[in-house]
Amino acid sequence: SRRQGQVHHDDRQRCWQVLGHPEVSAVLADHTTFSSDLGDLMPRQPDLDLLTRGNFVRMDPPRHHRLRGLASRAFTPRTVTGLAPRIATVTAELLDAADERDRDRLDLIDALAYPLPVIVIAELLGLPAADRPMFRRWADALFNQPDSGPDTSLPRLAEQAVRQAAPAVREMNSYLLDRIQAARSHPADDLTSRLTTTEADGQRLTDEEIVGFVALLLIAGHITTTATLGNTVLCLDEHPDAAAQVRADRTLLPAAIEETLRLRTPFPRLARRTTTDAALGPALIPAGELVVAWLTAANRDERMFPEPERFDLHRQPNPHLTFGHGIHFCLGAPLARLEANIALGILLDRYPDITVATDPPVRHRDPWTMVGPASLPL
Ligand code: HEM
Repeated sequence: SRRQGQVHHDDRQRCWQVLGHPEVSAVLADHTTFSSDLGDLMPRQPDLDLLTRGNFVRMDPPRHHRLRGLASRAFTPRTVTGLAPRIATVTAELLDAADERDRDRLDLIDALAYPLPVIVIAELLGLPAADRPMFRRWADALFNQPDSGPDTSLPRLAEQAVRQAAPAVREMNSYLLDRIQAARSHPADDLTSRLTTTEADGQRLTDEEIVGFVALLLIAGHITTTATLGNTVLCLDEHPDAAAQVRADRTLLPAAIEETLRLRTPFPRLARRTTTDAALGPALIPAGELVVAWLTAANRDERMFPEPERFDLHRQPNPHLTFGHGIHFCLGAPLARLEANIALGILLDRYPDITVATDPPVRHRDPWTMVGPASLPL
């Protein structure tokens, strides 16, 4: 709660909660003091090790810089813009297929918001898009609410989450290892094949490192974009005036997406570990502590966003922290924005009077791990 201060220690969750926009920005900007490598603060399980080895979102420089560099060429704004025609084609095909099934009803998540980003990222990575039911199962397992017992501290919840996700992660690891070995023997023009021959620190990446790397892109590359497509439709449905303005003036669609990203932030929070004693606002955080930077709270800080609860198409500037900040700033942000703009533009064109149905009702994911609808009947 903000009443306890923009930065405060939480005895129950055994961590420091950081809520204010400048304070969250300061944590994310200072990767030396606030490390992404959580070390002993988070549970380790040997068979989940593969997922962490090449997973550069949990690394600090210099290794982070080198691994991110290997992926970044595939995600520059220019490369990503080149994907626009493919995104439009896939969107149209998915909506045609949904119309054939039922012209009057559509579940946005099943019909479009889930398959579109997963097809796009699978094609970039060279994974068969037809395997997407499996990818969905793994992503759902990774972003599931842990069953909490009496101990609700964050390290304990994380341990439980890891335990619950373990079978799916094991399945994903062995699937990706097979694909990487296939890419080594029959390289194609895709990111996975390129990773098998490129070097970081003067050395080829091992298959095990590539697993974590590809898993990060595969999972990060779709689940949040799925949430954003659903969240934007929900926001426009809740704000009919804004929806009418966007329909009348399509140049307002990007602003509607940004306001949605601010108010319905898919990743609610990011975790860091202090490497030294750190002064943050009025608080002094000792070394070795878990620090939780709340993106949802920063995005509603009234010092930065006047009337923060208002869905405002004309909010200028809109410096939300939904894609993070600093060296780990989301690599896929240009792709996510492009997918959302193209897909939602086509959706609005095709269905001039679309509304969110009440029966069956919208099902939401558990906001502890991901803010977004699990099903969205229209
Ligand atoms: C990192 C959010 C879409 C790939 C991040 C981070 C956030 C984020 C908050 C920072 C993590 C940290 O600092 O610990 C989102 C949201 C998305 C989205 C809200 C959609 C609306 C994507 C897509 C990709 C992607 C489409 C696709 C390829 C990544 C990668 C990182 C990352 C690889 C790690 C970057 C690094 O550690 O240097 N994302 N993301 N994301 N995201 Fe995204």
